[in-house]
Amino acid sequence: MEEILQDVERAKSLDELEALRVRYLGRQGWLTQELRRLGELPMEERRLRGQELNRLKAELERALTARAAQLKQQALEERLNRERLDVSLPGYALPRGGLHPITLMLRELLAIFQSMGYRPVQGPELEREFFNFDAVNMPPWHPARDMQDTFWVRQEGEVAEERFPGPLGDYLLRTHTSPMQIRYMLAHTPPFKIVVPGRVFRYEQTDASHEAMFFQLEGLVVGEGISMADLKGAIYELARSLFGAEARARFHPTYFPFVEPGAQFALWWPERQKWLELGGSGMVHPKLFEIVDAYRVQLGLPPAYQGLSGFAFGMGVDRLALLRYGVPDIRYFYQQPRLSFLKQFRG
Ligand code: FA5
Repeated sequence: MEEILQDVERAKSLDELEALRVRYLGRQGWLTQELRRLGELPMEERRLRGQELNRLKAELERALTARAAQLKQQALEERLNRERLDVSLPGYALPRGGLHPITLMLRELLAIFQSMGYRPVQGPELEREFFNFDAVNMPPWHPARDMQDTFWVRQEGEVAEERFPGPLGDYLLRTHTSPMQIRYMLAHTPPFKIVVPGRVFRYEQTDASHEAMFFQLEGLVVGEGISMADLKGAIYELARSLFGAEARARFHPTYFPFVEPGAQFALWWPERQKWLELGGSGMVHPKLFEIVDAYRVQLGLPPAYQGLSGFAFGMGVDRLALLRYGVPDIRYFYQQPRLSFLKQFRG
């Protein structure tokens, strides 16, 4: 018996253990056979032998179970050692994206205007001729239409729009963000201050400072007693926020059909000692208020712009980004793929 128990102790695998179990406790096993042979023994001997065999059987079973548990535990430990995961190993670095320089520029501008109380709103890039031109005081015969060469999206016949009844003309890719002035005034009652960031499109030859698609930021403020001084105040504040306390702004009279008087504006960048021509501005032309109020009445809304005044501006976001980031050519912003260029702007 001692030997048997030693064999059990020495078994190196569960398979070996199972072989031992079969050899001694299986149906043909030694112990089973011995038990079966009990009947052949005389009464007294049978009892003693029976007790002994049962004790041996119990002992063997215990030994087998204990060794099996040991082997399982060993196997588990070996596996855990073998398959250890080193969580301190450095992982794979994920490529990190960055923001496009125009996005960075727009965010900076929006933050500046939001701090002055302007609400950012957006309008459609696929616009109607009426909003892009007629409603901002550029009827079809107006020579100013030639200043903004247009990508037309012609359609067969007039397409009516549920929200805005009346003929709206052809579809086009908006040539500036000014049509949003009209859309916003139609749907809102003054006073308000809004900025409209967005993509605009012009059918133009491209060069280092001209793209066929670029970004503008429009501003519109309407209320009682708004004056040119308010416009200048807003642009001065923009200059200071962008370029510090030393910054200045200057205005030159110019012509846009939707403002009167109208002015080009430029910002003085002290660090570089130069003027940046940024965009156009002016006092909202009274004709726009008339057009909006007439339309509001058509829509069943009360007129809202009588006796009010306002100012508007529209600036080239790309032109500002070119100078601010020292980029020599506007086309770098949109050429694909130009990762080496774009990677410089990771914030
Ligand atoms: C306008 O588009 C007017 N809607 C601006 C305005 C709004 C005036 C409200 C008055 C009141 P203009 O065509 O000048 O104006 O364009 C404005 C700015 O957009 C320019 O000063 C320039 O910075 C930028 N810009 C114009 N054309 C291009 C172009 N092809 N590529 C890049 N930037 C351009």
